[in-house]
This record gives sequence, C-alpha cells and structure tokens, in this order.
Amino acid sequence: MKYPLIICSLVFLSFLSCKNQQSNEDIVKKDFDFAASQLAFAMTEVNKALAEDSAAARKMLVSPRTIGPDGKLKLVASRDWCSGFFPGSLWYMYEYTKDKKWEDAARKYTGPLEREKTNGGTHDMGFKVYCSFGNGYRLTNDENYKNIVLESAYTLITRYRPNAKIIRSWDHNKDKWQCPVIIDNMMNLELLFWAFKESKDSTFYNIAVNHAHTTIKNHFREDYGTYHVIDYDTITGEVLKRNTHQGFADGSTWARGEAWAIYGYTMCYRETKLPEFLEQAKHVANFIFTNANLPEDLIPYWDYNAPQIPDEPRDVSAATVTASALYELSTYDTENAAKYKKWADTILENLSKNYMAKQGEDRGFLLLHSVGSKPSNSEVDVPLSYADYYFLEALLRKQTLGQTGKLF
Ligand code: GLY
Repeated sequence: MKYPLIICSLVFLSFLSCKNQQSNEDIVKKDFDFAASQLAFAMTEVNKALAEDSAAARKMLVSPRTIGPDGKLKLVASRDWCSGFFPGSLWYMYEYTKDKKWEDAARKYTGPLEREKTNGGTHDMGFKVYCSFGNGYRLTNDENYKNIVLESAYTLITRYRPNAKIIRSWDHNKDKWQCPVIIDNMMNLELLFWAFKESKDSTFYNIAVNHAHTTIKNHFREDYGTYHVIDYDTITGEVLKRNTHQGFADGSTWARGEAWAIYGYTMCYRETKLPEFLEQAKHVANFIFTNANLPEDLIPYWDYNAPQIPDEPRDVSAATVTASALYELSTYDTENAAKYKKWADTILENLSKNYMAKQGEDRGFLLLHSVGSKPSNSEVDVPLSYADYYFLEALLRKQTLGQTGKLF
C-alpha cells in the first residue's frame, strides 16, 4: 500500500513541476513576443522622429530614451548615459530568438555609439558601451566590438582617483562637489571586470574592487539604505558631503539607487567571490523587501521615503533592475534562493499584468510608469529605455535559470 502512495505523490509532484516550468516559459514567451512586435514598431517610430527633426543629424541622435511631455519620442545622442539600452534590448531579442534580423537591427543601433570609447567625461561607459557592444561581443565574438569595449574600459579608468580609491562619476556641478560618486557607478564596474578577464591587466580588477570597497564604507547607512551622491576629497580621500540628486532627500533612499546597489554587489560577487560583496547584496535585498513602504506588488515608489506615499509615482525601472539582480543572487545565496526567485517572479508577473505599454502604441516602449528624476520634475511616470532593457534581461535570466539552474 505504501509504494502506490509514493508513486502517486511522485507523479503529482512531477505534474506540478511541469506546470511550473510551463508557466515560466509562458510569461517569458508572452513578453518576448510582445517585445518583438513592440521593438519593431519602436524602430519605425525612431525613423519617423528622425525624419521630423530637421536638426537630427547635427544633434547626432542615435537611440530612444523616453517619451517627452509633448508626447514625442525623445531620442538621444551617443554621449547620453541611456544610449546603450535600446541597442542592448535588440541584442537581448537576438539572444532570445537567434533570428539574424535582430542581430542586424542590434548592429545598426550599436555602431553609432563607437565614438564613446574615448569619451572620458563621464562614468557612464558601462551603461553605454557594455550594454551595446559588450552584449554584441558576447553574442557574436566580433573582434572589432571587443576592441571597442576594451578601449572604453581604458578610458573609464582615467577617472580613477587613487587616494580616495573611487572612480569619479560626474563632472557637472563643480561648484557643489569636488569629486562626486553616485551609487549608480557600481554598475559600470562590470565593464572593468570584463576588461580584466580579456586583457589580464590587473589594474582593471584592482580599481573595480577598490571602488566597490570604498562604496561599502561610505554609501550605506546602518539599515543598508544608500546615499545617492558621496563627495570626496581626492587628496585625503575624506568624505566631504552626503547628498542626493535624484532622491527625495539627502537622508532618503532613492529606489533606483538601491536597485543599482543590489545589482552591483551581486555582480561584484560573481566576478571576485569576495564574501563581503555577497553580504552587501543580501543586506540590500533585505532592505528592499522588508521596507514598510514597498507596495504589495513589489514595484517600489520612486523613493522609499517619498513624503506622500501611497500617492507617489512608482519606479518600474527600479523593479526591473532588482528582478534581474535577484535571479543572479539566488544562484549564490542558496539558503535564500527560493525567496529571491519568488520575489523576482512576482515582480515580472505584476509588471506583465499591470504596467505594460499598449501594443503598437507608447512609441514602442515595453513598460510604462518609471521615474527619471522626480526632484527636477523630469521623466516622471513615463517609459524609460533602461526599464525595458533590464526587463528583457530579467526574463532571459528567468528562462536560463529555469532551464539550466545557473546563469554564469
Ligand atoms: N544613472 C542615472 C540614473 O539612474 O538615473
């Protein structure tokens, strides 16, 4: 009698696991099918916007970033920190479909960003070049792309300030900050780890690790909420100011900043296996998911301390970055893996249900309801190219994890 019962249970469990696998594939397929038609539409919208703007060539516009208050598609030049996300999304389409037409499209939007490889005026090199050429190289082994990414990494490390052991983020607001570093900068370290592996030049590794350590020391509060901007004295390494630029207040936790932190430290752990980076990522996950102001659907308000919660805009971009990071974190912190995966799945399910753009509308973006900079009243409750990019990345990670049990 005992054995039939065991057999029945096993059959039932394998039925449940098949069902689960099926629903994983359903959401990934459904969202990628939508992305295929929406990104094709986006490319026609780009052509239209370029044709309508008589100064487009002079402005050297290359990529969509958002929809402006006038309802028009906002295109940016390669120097804009967002220029790499649209080509990156096209590379993810190619990765998912293996269809040459997406490779061609991705190449078309990636090529014009090459000039950024020598632009040492910003820390945003990873966002621009790694998301575009970096993905392109990973998927095609194109030697030319590899050289472009490597040169970009050499340009990025010219911003390293050895006494403070950080990479300088911005050059603007020189009257306010001597050497500002933003939590976002953690994301650009991935380019340096890649460059170390390709070139074997340990300078890249050491700079990335130093930056990540200095950021642990100065960017986090006791509860693992983050400051957005830390201003450094480049001679003494002393912290001069703790500020915000896109958050609600100097002492508040800006939602996307916290998302950059969980993603950045998870990636740093992947590349170094230093336990303090894993610990940091776990603490940030804990901050986000035990926060009393995190809504039930796990799509955060634009700042965890925004004053009018629940009457504040959500930031879908923070949710997509976090979901992508959580899938990776689940592969390192096995004790909490199921919890991380569940949170990431819930984010993707809720985004797919309630935050999607309309097919053939919304200028070809995938997701609505992100926030660029609330304090400047800029890009509030709009689609953003990086929300879409990390959404596709999270979907791909969900699929790969479901199929192989690992990511890297
Ligand atoms: N890296 C700029 C932002 O997150 O808005």
